[in-house]
Amino acid sequence: MSLSKDKNWWRQAAIYQIYPRSFADTDGNGIGDLKGVTSKVDYLASLSLDAVWLSPFYPSALADGGYDVDDYRNVDPKLGTLADFDEMLAALHNAGIRVFVDIVPNHSSNLHQWFKDAIAAAPGSAERARYIFRDGRGANGEIPPTDWPSHFAPSAWTHESTWGGKHNQWYMHWFAPEQPDWNWDNPEVEADFLKTLKFWADRGVDGFRIDVAHALKKDLSEPLRMRATMEYDAPQNLDGTGILMDRNEVFEVYRTWRTLFNSYDPPRVAVAEANVHPSRLPLYASENTLGQSFDFRFIDAAFTAQNYKECVSQSLELAKKNNSSTTWTLGNHDQMRYATKLGLHPIVDRNDWLLSHGQSHPVDFEIGTRCSVAANLFILALPGCTYIYQGDELGIHEVADIPFDQVQDPLYLRNLKQAKGRDGSRVPLPWTRGGTNFGFGAGTPHLPQPKWFADFSVEAESGISGSPLEVFRKALKLRRELQCAEEITWHETTSEDVLHFSRPNGWNCITNFKASKYPMPAGEIILASSPLVNGKIAAGSTVWFKA
Ligand code: NOJ
Repeated sequence: MSLSKDKNWWRQAAIYQIYPRSFADTDGNGIGDLKGVTSKVDYLASLSLDAVWLSPFYPSALADGGYDVDDYRNVDPKLGTLADFDEMLAALHNAGIRVFVDIVPNHSSNLHQWFKDAIAAAPGSAERARYIFRDGRGANGEIPPTDWPSHFAPSAWTHESTWGGKHNQWYMHWFAPEQPDWNWDNPEVEADFLKTLKFWADRGVDGFRIDVAHALKKDLSEPLRMRATMEYDAPQNLDGTGILMDRNEVFEVYRTWRTLFNSYDPPRVAVAEANVHPSRLPLYASENTLGQSFDFRFIDAAFTAQNYKECVSQSLELAKKNNSSTTWTLGNHDQMRYATKLGLHPIVDRNDWLLSHGQSHPVDFEIGTRCSVAANLFILALPGCTYIYQGDELGIHEVADIPFDQVQDPLYLRNLKQAKGRDGSRVPLPWTRGGTNFGFGAGTPHLPQPKWFADFSVEAESGISGSPLEVFRKALKLRRELQCAEEITWHETTSEDVLHFSRPNGWNCITNFKASKYPMPAGEIILASSPLVNGKIAAGSTVWFKA
């Protein structure tokens, strides 16, 4: 299948996130690899995807699951080689699937050559100017330069002596100490990222997911401003003049990137991961900047008709502001599995539940999976682009009982162990019902797989009518055929727990969130997330029909 030259191919695409280390392992080292992705191209093609996005596969010591990059223009030997990458890209392209790679521009790893050079060099040197080094406060510089907090550690500053530096300076990191932030006021850094983008785009990569896209530019004017709060998840500053994030200067960087993206045919695509106030999202998703931006508002919205309708309306309105398309997403590698969120009682504190290894409250696997498939059909019928996290097509659940001594996430390890973190949605996928490691690979998987994975395996669900996988397969195939103008019309229903909308070509979608069985409107049913009961739509179901 050849790839179209349509420069708007991304607007209503179905994009599947691969977390390579947990997808498929061909060399038996317990870590998924690029050859593993290649070996599953038929599976990916069976999902009628437009593209896959690969989380980082670059050389990394995995202090943050690969978001600590040692070398942006290479493949981690644990995951393969550049030749494996080219082979994977060609196989995916042959199957009509485009490829996004993850760019991590806010920080490198402490093992990046430039950071090692910086540690070895003296204060004031060109090497140190690529990162954010400062003298400490106090008589002997023993107090960090500011009170800035980090997402993965109590302070955003670590003393250089941690890595053998001898000049009594501190460097800044918004995430783990192993993730030093780049100094984006340094043109050398900007030039190096352009080189990286060009490197992958020249290889044939179709798009880029930009990690913490709002973080690059900081107010580094002296004296550094103090702040006591961390605004990573709850940005307060709406005019682009905050200290550490979402500063207006960042769009200059993205305008330069856009010029590079547009020099390709078709232009390269980019999507921003920007945890900013929704009113700022259009700035990242403009056609002069990255073009698209994740809209995460569904990720934590309770599964109710009212919330869902509100999310859709607000998101569609925002997308119109910059001629972008919406980006629906229910899960990713940073989130608890969506099926589990919906299978847990809404009042349960998810963090406490994870810390209890899933023992503090029961999770209803059946309801969770059923509602998550219904939710997915709902978002797949909406205009715009949908991102699907690997395994969500299986209706799979969070692995809550990873023993503490096997947890890898710095969110746990670095934050005084107050949160268990994100490993539960990163457990290697089950491909087969039985066999070694559920078909993931011959070596012990880097995170332990539970016994119940058997029932959620690709093998267990393949060919079983009504299984999450088969519903997804049908939905994605139909969606491609049915796709039309990016508009919806809401229709009245007789229950506040039921939403009904249609697209301009008569493609209708109705979701019963929690009402008692709801009468099916007139029309030809084309897909149902769960079977109708006596001609009625049961709670936790979505039906697509042609009116
Ligand atoms: C966002 C990524 O999705 C997450 O996994 C990572 O920990 C942080 N950015 C830091 O790179």
